[in-house]
Amino acid sequence: MAISNETINEIKTRADILEVVGDFVDLKKAGSSYRGLSPFTNEKTPSFYVSPSKEIYKCFSSGKGGDAISFIMELEGINYIEALKYLANKYGIEVEEEEQTDEQIQAQNERESLFIILNFAKDYFVETLWEHEEGKSIGLSYFKERGFSEETIRKFDLGYSLDTWDGFMKAAEKKGFKREIMEKAGLILASENKTYDRFRGRVMFPIHNVAGKAIAFGARILTNNKKQPKYINSPETEVYHKSNIVYGIHQAKKEIRNADLCYLVEGYTDVISMHQSGVENVVSSSGTSLTKEQIQLIGRYTKNITVLYDGDNAGIKASFRGIDLILEHDLDVKAVVFPEGEDPDSFSRSMSSEAFTDYLKENAKDFITFKTNVLTDGGKKVDPASKVQVIRDVIASIALIPDGIKRSVYIQSCAHQLDIEEQVLLSELNKLLITKQQKESQQRFRENEQVEAANYPPEPVQEEVKETQYASFYVERETLRMLVNYGAEAFDEETTIAQFIVDETGDISFQDPMIGKAIGMAGSMLEAGQKIGPDQFIGPQDPNMSQLVIDMLELKHFISDGWKDKHKIDTVHESEDLPEATFKVVLRLKRKKLEELLIKTEEDLKSNKNPLEQDELMKIYIHYKRLFDEVGKQLGIVVAK
Ligand code: UTP
Ligand code: MN
Repeated sequence: MAISNETINEIKTRADILEVVGDFVDLKKAGSSYRGLSPFTNEKTPSFYVSPSKEIYKCFSSGKGGDAISFIMELEGINYIEALKYLANKYGIEVEEEEQTDEQIQAQNERESLFIILNFAKDYFVETLWEHEEGKSIGLSYFKERGFSEETIRKFDLGYSLDTWDGFMKAAEKKGFKREIMEKAGLILASENKTYDRFRGRVMFPIHNVAGKAIAFGARILTNNKKQPKYINSPETEVYHKSNIVYGIHQAKKEIRNADLCYLVEGYTDVISMHQSGVENVVSSSGTSLTKEQIQLIGRYTKNITVLYDGDNAGIKASFRGIDLILEHDLDVKAVVFPEGEDPDSFSRSMSSEAFTDYLKENAKDFITFKTNVLTDGGKKVDPASKVQVIRDVIASIALIPDGIKRSVYIQSCAHQLDIEEQVLLSELNKLLITKQQKESQQRFRENEQVEAANYPPEPVQEEVKETQYASFYVERETLRMLVNYGAEAFDEETTIAQFIVDETGDISFQDPMIGKAIGMAGSMLEAGQKIGPDQFIGPQDPNMSQLVIDMLELKHFISDGWKDKHKIDTVHESEDLPEATFKVVLRLKRKKLEELLIKTEEDLKSNKNPLEQDELMKIYIHYKRLFDEVGKQLGIVVAK
């Protein structure tokens, strides 16, 4: 989808990084910037910074950073265009799109066309439910019998697929969609002699991504045909990886953050019924056992998960793995078990929403109580052997928690609940922790060996050359690092740091083309009278350049001096005497470049047999050598100071 330049510009001007990030991260003022817990990691100490004046963010624990657009791209896992649309929507900016012809639709990149066809399918199924005779009499009446209100049905974009072989396919073809893309989206099936709709005669539950786009469907049968599965789901596609998404996250995310809690249920109908009962912070892992990615997704919005179990769920024990996985990712987990024969769907519909919310609150057990209850069969099995088993099991879960303070709190609670001395539990825990540490250090050792084995740089090169190449790469980066971090500051009374670097490096050829490009850009910006700062290099238009500069950003950009003093943060180093630091960096760069030239001239001398040319080369060599020594001397003086 092409968005007009005017719209893009308007979005960029209107999008305020504090507001955009603030929707996801609780930010506190820290000096001239704002600070909060990284939404990308499970950190305890905030190392995520936003600079409103530079309009950039940087997460020092994951290394990610960029502007408002790239924040949304990173967080929601969406592309540039999708992020622009998200922001347009947030700021009520009308998106001017260029008219799409059938050819253009096909020419879009594949992901984009998958979203388009899936969105079309969603609208088609919704329309069929509300407008088509069969949809109304079969689909809509089914939902209503289930107790779903019209508002709820709309909220979840529920739909209906006609009981024909090609109802959807025909409608989509009429709009110019190709069968190939319908198949790639998992909407139709193709066998040797027949192509037909995947979903037929079923009520449709669209699965949305975080940004609210339809990415897949779950579809429930309405007849008692035992030969057909009750639910069929979209297959994995380019845009749908079922282990990375939870059902309902788009509708739930706001309330999850508000309540600082996420309920986790089994299915679509549980999520929807709970919404109708006023509990909106609920998602479902939809048929798969909980994955690491799903936990991390929820973890962006809250560190608290409460798992809801059916009363007759024979699989509760099997679900222990999910609980452990949650603990391992440093989220807190509780569990609620419903009465015999009830699931969240049926139970929430059987009472008022107050009664239901009260039940959730009163019956949420921490995972120790929950596991103990399940393992002792509700306190029935109390023989010593069972008790030992329970203790082992619970401690194994506690050992997974990364945070030591939390672990000791849980050990206390466990000691109390199981009536065992804390010391006994602690030594049991320590045994497990030591084994775990040993395993991890072995693992790290193996990984390091692999990294060392990997060839860098990728092409096979001689040891010596590799050494100088690396060194050159390093001083080039140092030069750019000084430029982006301190460019606007004074070098002397007349010159800025940026101007000095640009002037002094004008005739140097950089090994890393990206660095050459950045310094070239800085030159043009200076000519245009602009100030040099990191924000000028960061943005989605050049992701590689952005990443390079983000990696170089110093904490200094995000905290003022007063705040640093107060918090005893030590970021003094080079910024104490910037002109000297810059001067040294530039000298080191020059020395390295001269060294490269010397090596090259030496090689030319060895291979060249023409006496005249040899003579010339020798002169060049001496010239470089003199410069090299000169720079070395200057560097020596500076260093010795
Ligand atoms: P249910 O069997 O309770 O489904 O499974 P239901 O639609 O609520 O049916 P009834 O009315 O109680 O008989 C609960 C959830 O488990 C998932 C669905 O998400 C459903 O909402 N499920 C169930 C599947 O994904 N596939 C299945 O085959 C069955
Ligand atoms: Mn059910």
